[in-house]
Amino acid sequence: MNNLISCHGINYQYRDGKHHTQVIKDLNLDVAAGESIAILGQSGCGKSTLLNLLGGIDRPDSGQIKINNTDINTLDEQEKSEFRSKNLSFIYQFHHLLKDFSALKNIMMPLLIQSDPDAKQKAMKILNKVGLESRANHLPSELSGGERQRVAIARALITQPKCLLADEPTGNLDGKNAQEILDLMMTLNQTHNNSLIVVTHDEKIAARMRRVLVLENGQFS
Ligand SMILES: Nc1ncnc2c1ncn2[C@@H]1O[C@H](COP(=O)(O)OP(=O)(O)O)[C@@H](O)[C@H]1O
Ligand SMILES: [Mg+2]
Repeated sequence: MNNLISCHGINYQYRDGKHHTQVIKDLNLDVAAGESIAILGQSGCGKSTLLNLLGGIDRPDSGQIKINNTDINTLDEQEKSEFRSKNLSFIYQFHHLLKDFSALKNIMMPLLIQSDPDAKQKAMKILNKVGLESRANHLPSELSGGERQRVAIARALITQPKCLLADEPTGNLDGKNAQEILDLMMTLNQTHNNSLIVVTHDEKIAARMRRVLVLENGQFS
């Protein structure tokens, strides 16, 4: 089968002086195109570490991670960052928006970096999809928590990534906003057929994904 993500035998440990913490142990994961997956697990079990490995932010000590048939760890930094910007996007618990730029400019940013002449037009379109056209010129500080997270989602999706990696994307929102953000991510996942990997400790959110995996002792139990 042609998987969008395919990980085999990955190991990762943090080395801090004499302390070694083996966080990921001989882990395998295959993700099909368009699939939605929740990764559940207790705090500190290695969920964020795993997302960083999948996104090529950290490099496994051993094992192979292929995304769209490319072994990201064979790329140099420049190639990796180009590969990432074409194929992957991240959403975090805290939005990481640029505070001095409007919602629209924040959303345009990934395309401005790629010198896309249609950046503004595309950003307006996606701003519309996330229901924030009236907030285009607001700064992040002038938006609510839920609105900021919508902007972060719009920014993550504007490059039409093949895979969206979300680390506790609703962790900072109340129940109603969390549901709305999740609805939005799932709708966009279905329309764009991008794979969605959501790390969460919320079982209600996990239950909405097609597949639920629990990370425990460095592996999926
Ligand atoms: N930079 C780091 N250096 C050393 N240990 C770390 C570092 N980051 C995370 N850890 C440890 O690795 C384990 C997994 O962390 P993390 O992936 O953040 O867990 P989760 O996202 O599931 O809460 C934890 O025990 C954490 O303390
Ligand atoms: Mg985490």
